[in-house]
Amino acid sequence: MNRFRYFLRNSLAAKVILSTVFLSLGVVWLTGSALYSQLSSGVKEVNLESSLAEARSSFFNAQYQFLLVQDKPTSQINKTTQQIIKSSTQVGVNQARKDIVLLKIEDTTLSDPRYQANIYNYSSEGITLKAIPPTLRKELFKKEDLVYQYSTLSRLSGVETESLIIGRKIAIPKSGLYEMYLIYSLTNQRTTLDLISNALLLTGFALILLIALITWLVVRQVVRPVREAARIAEQFTKGDFSQRMEIKSNDEIAKLGTSFNEMALSLESQITRLENLSRVQQRFVSDVSHELRTPLTTLRMASEVIYSHRSGFDPTLSRSAELLIAQLDRFERLLEDLLEVSRFDAEVAVLEPVEFDLVPLIARCISDVGSTGEDLPISIDMDPELEHVMIKADIRRLERIMRNLLSNALDHADGKPVRVAILQTPTEVAIGVRDYGEGLDASALHRVFDRFWRADPSRSRVRGGTGLGLSIALEDARLHNGELDAWGRPGLGAHFVLTLPRVAGEQITGRPLKLEPTDAHKFER
Ligand SMILES: Nc1ncnc2c1ncn2[C@@H]1O[C@H](COP(=O)(O)OP(=O)(O)OP(=O)(O)O)[C@@H](O)[C@H]1O
Ligand SMILES: [Mg+2]
Repeated sequence: MNRFRYFLRNSLAAKVILSTVFLSLGVVWLTGSALYSQLSSGVKEVNLESSLAEARSSFFNAQYQFLLVQDKPTSQINKTTQQIIKSSTQVGVNQARKDIVLLKIEDTTLSDPRYQANIYNYSSEGITLKAIPPTLRKELFKKEDLVYQYSTLSRLSGVETESLIIGRKIAIPKSGLYEMYLIYSLTNQRTTLDLISNALLLTGFALILLIALITWLVVRQVVRPVREAARIAEQFTKGDFSQRMEIKSNDEIAKLGTSFNEMALSLESQITRLENLSRVQQRFVSDVSHELRTPLTTLRMASEVIYSHRSGFDPTLSRSAELLIAQLDRFERLLEDLLEVSRFDAEVAVLEPVEFDLVPLIARCISDVGSTGEDLPISIDMDPELEHVMIKADIRRLERIMRNLLSNALDHADGKPVRVAILQTPTEVAIGVRDYGEGLDASALHRVFDRFWRADPSRSRVRGGTGLGLSIALEDARLHNGELDAWGRPGLGAHFVLTLPRVAGEQITGRPLKLEPTDAHKFER
């Protein structure tokens, strides 16, 4: 039942066919029953009229015969009576069976003992007087003319037959008044009516089948292109824009197909255009970065010469030499980042995973980041039993992620300590970097992984931030099939959590290290 409902809900053809069949069933039923009732009443009427006419002539004939033998001896009357019984029960062309009942009416005026001797009570085989309905008999007593009634006649054998009973009073000479009934079996009429109803049922059934078939053929014409369109649209979502709908005519469906194909064409051309554009942009960034490298190397060599002689310069000139070197560093880093970004965009970034211990790598990153000479306020939280955290990943990329997270934290920590947490499960490794500095608000969190985005562009200039670090870190993490998440609250600091699969490329099943730090509210003012 459920499957049927599912099928019905998912198939337009089934819905249309079923409703059409239901509606036409109603129409066929109505017209069929109207037709049947008209036909059957017609058949009954014709049958009644012919039976009445025949009965009338039988009664007339009987009356006439008896008149002829009125003064004849009793034996002659007996013979006539037998003849009348015989002729009255003779079956006509369209009749199944005819019976007769003859019954003397007890009449006191005819109590002549002579008459009492000749009584012609008679009933056809298997029929008793009880079979004649009393209402009909009463009517017969009252009327001089014919009376009739439809009745189900039960014979002595137990068989019941639908019958038409026609009666009339009749006088037999030297005997008295009689009730005479002619009983017409309606078996033939029933057969005819059954035939009609069967034919009607069969026609109705065939009609409904035909209607269902026609509906299916019609619906198919509409459904097929719709299905085709759905299939092609699915291909579009998979990125294949090459398929088109077949158009054979000029009707509404064909118009749908034409519009659909035009849409596909326009989508395809726009996507190709955008792809070309982005390819051109990628190339441009990559070319420019490459082209800048050579002059930059020359610049660096020249400036290093100047820098090494700065002790001989006056203070402003020597300060300029230092600034030159610092800005060149920044320039070089920017170029490297740009090249990396263009590699990600061109999808040519390759992962070089090796198995190594994460703990010394993080320790190295911490000391590198703090190489400015300050005392490092960074502490590492990890399970003391976790001396080694083995992971298979790209060392260079992982180092880059950690350096950026740590330097960001230090940059924004306002001198407060920074905590690094390491956690491992059988399938994942998670590293959290938590600082208690100025933090990030909701809109900043939203954009923190965007390229070139910095909360305060002027601020980080000191350390040379370009706003590319986190976007590269996220791409690096995703290249490992890992994730990088950020949490932050203004004034409460920030928490960045890197989750990586133990083996690069495998899937991570969850986030073992919770993003919202447990001490989130500790410093709330
Ligand atoms: N721990 C943090 N606390 C507060 N803000 C942060 C933190 N980490 C990052 N941000 C904000 O996110 C911005 C983007 O960081 P991202 O690392 O991408 O760039 P950057 O550090 O400015 O430059 P780059 O890393 O490329 O040298 C930062 O400029 C800073 O505004
Ligand atoms: Mg950074």
